[in-house]
Amino acid sequence: MAVDLLLGLQWGDEGKGKIVDVLTKNYDIIARFQGGPNAGHTLEFDGIKHVLHTIPSGIFHDKAVNLVGNGVVIDPVIFKKELDNLAKFNIDFKNKLLISRKAHLILPTHRLLDAASEASKGKAKIGSTLKGIGPTYMDKTGRNGIRVGDLELKNWEEKYRALANKHEAMIDFYNVDLQYNLAELEADFFAAVEVLKTLQFIDSEEYLHQAQKAEKTILAEGAQGSLLDIDFGTYPFVTSSNTTAAGACTGLGVAPGKINEVFGIFKAYTTRVGSGPFPTELFDQYGETMGRVGNEFGATTGRPRRCGWLDLVALKYAVQVNGVTQLIMMKGDVLSGFDTLKICTAYNYKGEKITHFPFNIEAENVTPIYTEMKGWKEDLTKMTEASQMPKALNDYIDYLEKELEIPIKIVSVGPDRTQTIHR
Ligand code: GDP
Ligand code: IMO
Ligand code: MG
Repeated sequence: MAVDLLLGLQWGDEGKGKIVDVLTKNYDIIARFQGGPNAGHTLEFDGIKHVLHTIPSGIFHDKAVNLVGNGVVIDPVIFKKELDNLAKFNIDFKNKLLISRKAHLILPTHRLLDAASEASKGKAKIGSTLKGIGPTYMDKTGRNGIRVGDLELKNWEEKYRALANKHEAMIDFYNVDLQYNLAELEADFFAAVEVLKTLQFIDSEEYLHQAQKAEKTILAEGAQGSLLDIDFGTYPFVTSSNTTAAGACTGLGVAPGKINEVFGIFKAYTTRVGSGPFPTELFDQYGETMGRVGNEFGATTGRPRRCGWLDLVALKYAVQVNGVTQLIMMKGDVLSGFDTLKICTAYNYKGEKITHFPFNIEAENVTPIYTEMKGWKEDLTKMTEASQMPKALNDYIDYLEKELEIPIKIVSVGPDRTQTIHR
């Protein structure tokens, strides 16, 4: 049995949480494969909005098992808060939420190191969510990390102490003004570890292998977006994991040949939160309208998201790197009322017209070249059938499908589960 994969094609916040929730009814297992609580995945149904950071977005469905895979980094403190927020929903966490023993732990000192590193960079900062993601993955690849499975060993606190001491020396090295009380942070951390330990820790690659043999359906849930990928994103303004399709193989232990559908999700425009280049960014009333109507504020940090036109050069690149088989377009409703919509179809790169995504997309090298399309005026948010969609929206979708050579199978017209059109 194959594994399907859903991932973001832009700079994150495409609406992955909403669509994973919508698709969960078709799956037995939902598995997060990378990232950590830098993610903020929003789900809305029955008038309630939920923001998940580490817990997969299938958690509200009774039938599905949710798995936090080996590629994810877990902060027990944030994880405990997520569980507390969900306490009133009577979810059977013991059986419905499984944790890979090979997932790495974010320690309090990883968060401090993130803050120290960003402070030391001044204006060149990444704009990190400050959740300790970079330092934790550095310890993972540096072979110093502490994993969930270590919590079952007697000496893990010794390992913890040695690593935390080293981190403190590293924080001093940054020589920035960082106020903290490690004893307090550690008290929270150790208390939260005890809560984490109430869940099942499993050898998740074996679990997924057996699930595939038993013909279970599995959906892998990505975090962040392809342009934040450590290899293929706008380095160094990226996150520290592989957010692209290959990350699902390493982050879950699923073989490449077992990946079936790759759902690529994008907004009808573009947003970015944090620093880094963004060729189609708008600083005018159109960008302001997208941000206001789209309520573009980070689900994890509350920071306003930068907004701009759809960038087809970047989108094609993401489709290609991921091998996308089906597209999902989000937030079409936010563009209602624009007379004209622009789509970036090429870059003027150092004076030359190019249509591929180059090494460097800083503003001094890249100016977007746009095509214009007629906008739509209709309110889309009550529409439930493709037949109700206005002509201008269909033209926008047809254009993208032709350019990307992949069908757009779902059009989302609002944050709620029900505001979803299948075509
Ligand atoms: P994720 O990180 O990819 O899961 O996305 P986020 O949850 O960070 O950001 C997406 C935001 O857009 C959330 O506030 C969603 O509730 C909201 N949203 C999702 N789909 C739509 C849509 O089609 N229209 C509108 N207006 N909002 C949407
Ligand atoms: P979801 O899963 C949008 C951005 C940060 C920063 C950069 C590095 O909700 O789409 P990090 O904390 O990883 O060191 O930050 O990546 N970033 C995100 N932007 N959505 C996310 O996740 C993000 N996770 C990280 O803003 O620019
Ligand atoms: Mg988000």
